[in-house]
Amino acid sequence: MPLNIKAYFPAGGQTHEEIEMTDICYTDRADVIFARAILPPSKLVKEMVIYYQKLPNGKDEYRTISAKCPHQGADISQDELKADGNVYCSLHRRPICIFSEYNYAYLVEKREDKFFIVKT
Ligand code: FES
Repeated sequence: MPLNIKAYFPAGGQTHEEIEMTDICYTDRADVIFARAILPPSKLVKEMVIYYQKLPNGKDEYRTISAKCPHQGADISQDELKADGNVYCSLHRRPICIFSEYNYAYLVEKREDKFFIVKT
């Protein structure tokens, strides 16, 4: 059955200035890192989840979103990134687009041991 895009929650974001992520915390999941960041226009520090995938060309790609579901704020940090590029929130099962064709979360660059949300 084809996916219904109206059911998706876009997690994408744009920033016009680079944002350094803090409190980097590797997890026991190879594709998930926890961190904190201040996302515009807020001045508040938010809990973030960084997702990782290896691209077909061998490069690493990192994307990040808030750990709070964009629907009603459930904690999605323990929800698995599925092969279709979405995280399915455990509260109402809405898909949140991370690497899917519909939307991409904030783009992140890793530089040595630091992570930065980059301008898009
Ligand atoms: S709070 Fe996540 S889908 Fe509703």
